[in-house]
Amino acid sequence: MSSFILAIDQGTTSSRAILFDRQGQVAAVAQQEFPQHFPQDGWIEHNPEDIWDSVVSTCREVLVKADISAQQIDGIGITNQRETTVLWDRVTNEPLYNAIVWQDRRTSDLCQTLRDEGHTDTVQAHTGLLIDPYFSATKLAWILDHVEGARERAERGELAFGTVDSFLIWRLTNGKRHVTDATNASRTALFNIHTQQWDDELLALFNIPASLLPEVKDSSDDFGTIDASWLGAELPIAGVAGDQQAALFGQACFTPGMGKSTYGTGCFMIVNTGDEPATSRNRLLTTIAYRLNGKPTYAIEGSIFVAGATVQWLRDGLNLFADAAETEALARETRSGHSVYLVPAFTGLGAPHWDPKARGAILGLTRDTGIAEIVAAGLQAVCYQTRDLERCMSDDMSAKSGKLRVDGGMVKNNWVMQFLADMLGVEVDRPAILETTALGAAYLAGLRLGWYADLDEIERLWRCEKSFVPCMDEATREHLYQGWQDAVARVRSA
Ligand code: G3P
Repeated sequence: MSSFILAIDQGTTSSRAILFDRQGQVAAVAQQEFPQHFPQDGWIEHNPEDIWDSVVSTCREVLVKADISAQQIDGIGITNQRETTVLWDRVTNEPLYNAIVWQDRRTSDLCQTLRDEGHTDTVQAHTGLLIDPYFSATKLAWILDHVEGARERAERGELAFGTVDSFLIWRLTNGKRHVTDATNASRTALFNIHTQQWDDELLALFNIPASLLPEVKDSSDDFGTIDASWLGAELPIAGVAGDQQAALFGQACFTPGMGKSTYGTGCFMIVNTGDEPATSRNRLLTTIAYRLNGKPTYAIEGSIFVAGATVQWLRDGLNLFADAAETEALARETRSGHSVYLVPAFTGLGAPHWDPKARGAILGLTRDTGIAEIVAAGLQAVCYQTRDLERCMSDDMSAKSGKLRVDGGMVKNNWVMQFLADMLGVEVDRPAILETTALGAAYLAGLRLGWYADLDEIERLWRCEKSFVPCMDEATREHLYQGWQDAVARVRSA
């Protein structure tokens, strides 16, 4: 009887459950979208119960789809939208407030105050991050300060904080384990990436009681056993990583200089920097790529807040097409060198600008601009933003592989991938398995469960499906990119 690892990929707009075999092949997938809540401009929340229900139901559905029993699952890997913050009651398991999503900008003013007070260097030195509403610390402080009685209850030790991985593990183990992994911890702005401990100075700075925090484990570790009531068997949770780090792992980027870009709701470019944390001169982030046997591997990261979300907005907000798959044909209709730029700063700008108050714009419209040009501009914005990051990375890092591995929903679009290769001037490699985020979580679990002896064995499973080689001439590339930079300059808040 064949056996599987079940990977839970809890993302920003949907939850997925995917069964993998030992070769990293997908046996079955179940996916469920859940509601997004926008209570005010720049605020984004999820109901944690929607997250939880979608995870349990997709896990059950995938077993039915594959026609297997839970006894055929050797273990579980979890990967998740990072930074998103949940606070819950340790006795009732009920959240005190909606999950504040990573894209939420409500703590912009608090972050500005902290920057004005001169805390940027401390936060960067301890965590590798910048002071920005993106990270969990100010989101958690906001809940403690705005939900009546929350801070007092936290001081009494009645509450637990977690990123989504932690919340899911708490629920799956029926409250037996309050844990997270080092990659997720590294996105809270409370975790010291050098000592690998929660940082007392930062807890004081953000006014966070230590009693709220989960235990931080390796990414491949014993995270507890899920209660038999959920899937019909007790199953070990053996791998956990934030989704972008999981994608890096699923892309087998184990050598310093190797990197990947994932095009999901946002776009995240991460390059492995090995045993030593590299500090960016260009406002990129230093983060933990994965931690195995107590040893962290570091990475440098550029985070773009809106990538696939632009396509979603063009589809659902503007009704320009019915299905994302139509965008490739639409983009091919445009005349080359059209002058439309779409800057998708719906929730501000991430790296390297870090401008939470910037807002989006469509620029360069002419009388002959049509749906195709606007759609193409939305797709191209993702490539231009990747180039913004790539330029910073090139400046920050000595060792670079000269190729980029890509994954995420948008990379199925060949037109976008060719434009990306053209804009970067490097080869873009699309892997055979596009489910790299979930695959990374499965590999992390597989390492713990003895499916794989080491990283070399995992690396040998990576296959390239298609390479996109740059073919745009230098002058055109620079002309187009200059137009993008001008467009960005016009939406900046200051
Ligand atoms: O940092 C946010 C990131 O983890 C969200 O990923 O795939 O949901 O856009 P995704």
